[in-house]
Amino acid sequence: MKNVLVLGGTGFVGTPVCEMLLQQGWQVTVCSRLGASAELLQRNLPEIHVLELDVHDEMALTQALTGQQAVVNLVAILHGTADAFEKVHVDLPRKLVRACSAAGVRQMVHVSALGANAIRPQSAPSMYLRSKGQGEAVLLQAAALEQASWFDLTILRPSVIFGVRDKFLNVFAQLQKVLPVMPLAGATTRFQPVWVEDVASAVVRSLERTAIAGAPKAPLILELCGPDVFTLRHLVQLSARLSGIRGGRGRPVLALPRWLARLQATLMELAPGEPLMSRDNLNSMKIDNVASGNVPGLSYLGIEAASLVPIASAYLGGK
Ligand SMILES: NC(=O)c1ccc[n+]([C@@H]2O[C@H](COP(=O)([O-])OP(=O)(O)OC[C@H]3O[C@@H](n4cnc5c(N)ncnc54)[C@H](OP(=O)(O)O)[C@@H]3O)[C@@H](O)[C@H]2O)c1
Repeated sequence: MKNVLVLGGTGFVGTPVCEMLLQQGWQVTVCSRLGASAELLQRNLPEIHVLELDVHDEMALTQALTGQQAVVNLVAILHGTADAFEKVHVDLPRKLVRACSAAGVRQMVHVSALGANAIRPQSAPSMYLRSKGQGEAVLLQAAALEQASWFDLTILRPSVIFGVRDKFLNVFAQLQKVLPVMPLAGATTRFQPVWVEDVASAVVRSLERTAIAGAPKAPLILELCGPDVFTLRHLVQLSARLSGIRGGRGRPVLALPRWLARLQATLMELAPGEPLMSRDNLNSMKIDNVASGNVPGLSYLGIEAASLVPIASAYLGGK
């Protein structure tokens, strides 16, 4: 029996990952702080073992990894302080490597983000991307030391991810229902959105690749992107068209100059709950979020990337 521990398995990407792993005959354990999404996952996929665990507790992590063949790390945050990013994106991978070593787990699939740079993490424009790059560097260093003996690592870097439960096209569509205009930061930044099911397939195939090939390989890094490039403005307009807002015309998009975008993000950070946008998100959008051309993509795993429009129109259509 193939066993896998999934960290962050209750999330947007984690849910289809767990579903596909089950379909491929894996026995799946998900670590979670428990909450509504863990309950939903357990209800929808009762074969999964959901384990209440603080993933930042290295001893508990080692215990959870004992007896597992592989681990998938999907834990991440989008907003927070520099310390919070460091804890989740850098310290956790570091603990995970040590815990894998102690528990004898040989395979890891780590989901990072497009724009992360493991060689020069500090060159990235935001805390999110810098910490993602540092987390990759930690894992790659461990793999360089340990590769010959035990560690088989895949790092996946998705662009923005779309799917039924996304907080991206769905949010753009919802906002255009209530706002008279769409004040938009980063309107000209380009993205190459990838379907959540393709990301999940990439996770599962990365695990299967090792299971089939046997011996550990050099770390594999893949950029996960869809076939089409869109500006953010175009994506906002598309979300309105596909959900039929104002007969598909949507709301006029007001591209904000940088100073006004920063003010908007600052105000959003002050509002209660998860901000819709933070100054750090704004910094991430200083660079385009598209394939670099230097790193293989989904096709390396035999996955043909799905186009956004037909899929998004199916889930936005009824809204
Ligand atoms: N969504 C995108 O568009 C996108 C784009 C590029 C890259 N990615 C990457 O893809 C991966 C999965 O993203 P996602 O969208 O599925 O994220 P998500 O829905 O926010 O899920 C992340 C999971 O991580 C756990 N988690 C969050 N904060 C935590 C913390 N402080 N300590 C411990 N656990 C924590 C949560 O599990 P519990 O609540 O059950 O503990 C949550 O279900 C991440 O690495 C993300 O950076 C996502």
